[in-house]
Amino acid sequence: MGVIYLDHAATANPKAPGVGPAMLRSLGDCNGNPGHGAHRLSVAATLAVYEARATLAELLGVRDPGRLAFTAGATAALNQAIRGSLPEHGGHAICSVWEHNAVLRPLLEWRRRSGGTITFLPPGPDGAPFRPADLERAIQADTALIALSAASNVTGAIAPVAEAGEIARARGVRLLVDGSQAAGHLPVALDRLPVDLWACPGHKGLLGPQGVGLLYLREGLELPPLVVGGGGFDSAREDPPDEAPERYEAGTQNTPGILGLGAAAAHLLRQDPHAARAREVRHLDALQRGLGRIAGVRLHGAADPRRCVGVLSFAVAGWAPGAVAETLDRRFGICVRAGLHCAPMAHEALGTLPAGTVRASVGPWTTDDDLAALPEAVAWIAARAPEIAAPAEAARGA
Ligand SMILES: Cc1ncc(COP(=O)(O)O)c(C=O)c1O
Repeated sequence: MGVIYLDHAATANPKAPGVGPAMLRSLGDCNGNPGHGAHRLSVAATLAVYEARATLAELLGVRDPGRLAFTAGATAALNQAIRGSLPEHGGHAICSVWEHNAVLRPLLEWRRRSGGTITFLPPGPDGAPFRPADLERAIQADTALIALSAASNVTGAIAPVAEAGEIARARGVRLLVDGSQAAGHLPVALDRLPVDLWACPGHKGLLGPQGVGLLYLREGLELPPLVVGGGGFDSAREDPPDEAPERYEAGTQNTPGILGLGAAAAHLLRQDPHAARAREVRHLDALQRGLGRIAGVRLHGAADPRRCVGVLSFAVAGWAPGAVAETLDRRFGICVRAGLHCAPMAHEALGTLPAGTVRASVGPWTTDDDLAALPEAVAWIAARAPEIAAPAEAARGA
């Protein structure tokens, strides 16, 4: 049985062509420590990391590549942005109910520690993540940060980030965007967006390897660094470097990951982002239609695929989401994800607690056959009683 991979929102599979060879280069002809030495291998590694950063800057519309710091992933970038933006005592933060735990948990931890408060923006109409007017109303004199995901990893719904940025800017409040489900899916020019901080992983829509991500900081904005240590220069200085990217890149970097991500960005630059987006919308539309026709299947989120990235959540009457996903994998070779997808408040909003949903997500390699196979398999499932006991894990929601 072949594998039908519909879990690109978890991690892209396969990666972009060129990622593997680029990672191997870092173990071969540029296997020196980047930024930490003057011999040929160290210089080769430094240049290769620089080139990867410049390629990503071109892809993401960032004039100065130095405004992109490499991190260990979106989670690390979001922790740096959130912890580096909120006050030690008191203060106020705003986020939507669609946030991933990579945003929610640092915010909740800050609230416990500082005694600050958080406003959670309620969902907007027709599957929209929130109403800009609610954001405007939520801003207080002591609001230190607005943190919003650009697209939900549960429903795929795209947030009005530019509008939120205009509101934040007009009120002088910092905006952090979690671009984890948007990067590589929605064309973006970060320097032209009114955002202060933008985070994403390398391994999802950017088609790179796991273990590497990015934090974009708009020009002129620096944060207290979360991790401090060696930087390869100015070692006698007590303080960490003053500016991005070195300020946020203490220690030896994930050179294999960075070079792999650079190769993935080079691949994406050779594609037409508007054609890729049109294909994603077509794919999502096909999935929505195919699944929507099946008796007992309920789709969650926005109905219009043009308002979503390639992510779709659904439930099958009488079946725990975990049992659906397990059956799809075991009987049909279809890989999807089930549970809460690390976004518990999103499921509270959808009414899908405690078990969550089944989530299918498309990628650039998804074929028409893949798109036909999922509804066919789900129809088979929906017509039957569960044949396996739902694993406790899946029933609780991962
Ligand atoms: C919306 C969103 N934010 C943050 C993350 C965290 O990404 P990572 O686990 O790669 O750090 C994810 C991953 O699923 C996500 O979907």
